[in-house]
Amino acid sequence: MLKIIKKLGEGTFGKTYLVKYKDKKYALKIEHILNNERKKSFKNKIFRELDLFNYISKLNNEDKSFFVNLYNFEINNDCYQNILNKPEKSQLCVKYLMDYCGKYTLDKYESKYNLSKKRRLSILLQIIKIILILYKGGYSHNDLHVGTNIMVTKTKKKYFTLNNYKVPFYGIQCVAIDYGEVTHEKFGINYKRHPYKRMFSIDKDKHIFTEIFICTYRLLSSYEKMIEDCINSKKNISPWINNNLWCNGMKKLMNKNEIFFKNAIEKYGELYPEYKKDLQYIFKYRKSSKSIDQLIIDKKITKATFYNNYDYFYNILYKINEEFRYYHPILFKKYFGWCSVRKIDIPEKYFLRLLYANNYKELVNVYLDMMEK
Ligand SMILES: Nc1ncnc2c1ncn2[C@@H]1O[C@H](COP(=O)(O)OP(=O)(O)O)[C@@H](O)[C@H]1O
Ligand SMILES: [Mg+2]
Repeated sequence: MLKIIKKLGEGTFGKTYLVKYKDKKYALKIEHILNNERKKSFKNKIFRELDLFNYISKLNNEDKSFFVNLYNFEINNDCYQNILNKPEKSQLCVKYLMDYCGKYTLDKYESKYNLSKKRRLSILLQIIKIILILYKGGYSHNDLHVGTNIMVTKTKKKYFTLNNYKVPFYGIQCVAIDYGEVTHEKFGINYKRHPYKRMFSIDKDKHIFTEIFICTYRLLSSYEKMIEDCINSKKNISPWINNNLWCNGMKKLMNKNEIFFKNAIEKYGELYPEYKKDLQYIFKYRKSSKSIDQLIIDKKITKATFYNNYDYFYNILYKINEEFRYYHPILFKKYFGWCSVRKIDIPEKYFLRLLYANNYKELVNVYLDMMEK
């Protein structure tokens, strides 16, 4: 018999519990589904997730250790009120019995322990490893940019390999969980309308380039801490939550630091020639009464309807913002309405290489070079 010990987490679709079975701990994820969602088809989320679990089960042991494993899966009829939010629609639910990966999500780990530079870099390279293992099989996770979908566990293993480099674990291992957003070409879904999966349908190399950048840069930029600073201050809002703040910040940046922005257009226009005209366009209309988002929508530069750093074009603007932040942290805080000044703690040489990398291989090389030092 499975014994439920406690709830570990809760999301839109269901809940995850710590359970015990034959004296071993597992995580049990229970998701509520409707009757038509049990049909065996990649149109239904559960069969996409199962497909990824299946891919993971066939990996070699080293690769497998970066992912949560599935032990058992069932669809059944016994979803009662105390487990699910909307029992009235159907009593059906899916249950995944998985490895229990301890109590530390990456978020929690970061806020509980001060990450040393070495460990931080190891985590970054482990996240890259995760993305590359999936990429090799044609998959993309798409939800590793939040710190709640990576668990941090202890390990006794010393090294893992990445591009023929030996990367030290320093005692901690990252494990990817939550495969709900997984994409693969064989799923037959066209993501061209999806704000951040769209690049997956168009160019997979470019898609994982953005995925690697977002998921790793997050750890270098202390945005979690900056959002926390905003929550703790009376303002209680950050530009990543209030889109107007970001739009206004961009206008201020373009208007008050014209030379910086012109130079950025040249540099980033060279790295992303397909977007040079678009960068020039938003700069030209920097004094317009339309918001920056509106300018982008009107010009049909991208399908995303507001600032989303996972989107290819917005990601370029994000990098321009970050370059500005590196050299002018106080102005950055002022323009964008952040609540604190937090500097980016990487040597300039590597920082610029990170921003100017325009393909995933170069990006991975920058991180590997940082380790060599
Ligand atoms: N295998 C696991 N081991 C330990 N904790 C887990 C595990 N799976 C999920 N959790 C916890 O439950 C939370 C929600 O699970 P997740 O699979 O991300 O579902 P959701 O779709 O609700 O985000 C996670 O952020 C994590 O804190
Ligand atoms: Mg999750």
